[in-house]
Amino acid sequence: MTQDELKALVGQAALQYVTPGDIVGVGTGSTVNKFIDALASMKDQIPGAVSSSEASTARLKALGIPVFEANAVGELSVYIDGADEIDAQGHMIKGGGAALTREKIVAAQSRRFVCIADESKLVKALGRFPLPVEVIPMATARVVRQFAEMGGTAQVRLKDGAPLITDNGQHILDVTGLQITDPLAFESQVNQWPGVVTVGVFANQKASVCLLGTTDGVKTLTF
Ligand code: 5RP
Repeated sequence: MTQDELKALVGQAALQYVTPGDIVGVGTGSTVNKFIDALASMKDQIPGAVSSSEASTARLKALGIPVFEANAVGELSVYIDGADEIDAQGHMIKGGGAALTREKIVAAQSRRFVCIADESKLVKALGRFPLPVEVIPMATARVVRQFAEMGGTAQVRLKDGAPLITDNGQHILDVTGLQITDPLAFESQVNQWPGVVTVGVFANQKASVCLLGTTDGVKTLTF
């Protein structure tokens, strides 16, 4: 099975976690795009979605699924999103699609986080995937130095030769060379640095369930 087929498999499997009558939290990325496409088959059973990015909002609306502002609704029963890496405890690295801040907000608003990923995303320890960090541009140079003190190398993410601008009007640093042995402590530490909007380690908002696409089918990991 191709990676694209594995993504479609878990996107479809995630429908079982959507409760008819409930607004669903929707993440961002190529795997979530498969979920959004599958969700269209249930659109008459749900009031709509809270979205974690302008890209997902556009896709949801194009399929006729209403999108609500996070502030307009209360707690959500489920948030469905992909990951760049997930470990055996459900900690994740996210933000490859630059949507990490809104993803963490919608995840925090949800009782359950269902991660959908192909098996290449399951890792023993987080840190091989360059860690995305959303930063306020004025703080970039100092945050780069702080990562260097930890042994990491941080680079501003570019798009068409210029710094990528997130949906929140900020920049993304991608950090390599880190060993994230204690994701919870690491997330808390980096999130306290002035100018950091969000670090892409999801330990406080870790997954409750992971639907992992494998060549043998969907494996369900619960945390
Ligand atoms: C976007 C994310 C995505 O969930 C992550 O990058 C995985 O994406 P994909 O499903 O395309 O591999 O965090 O900010």
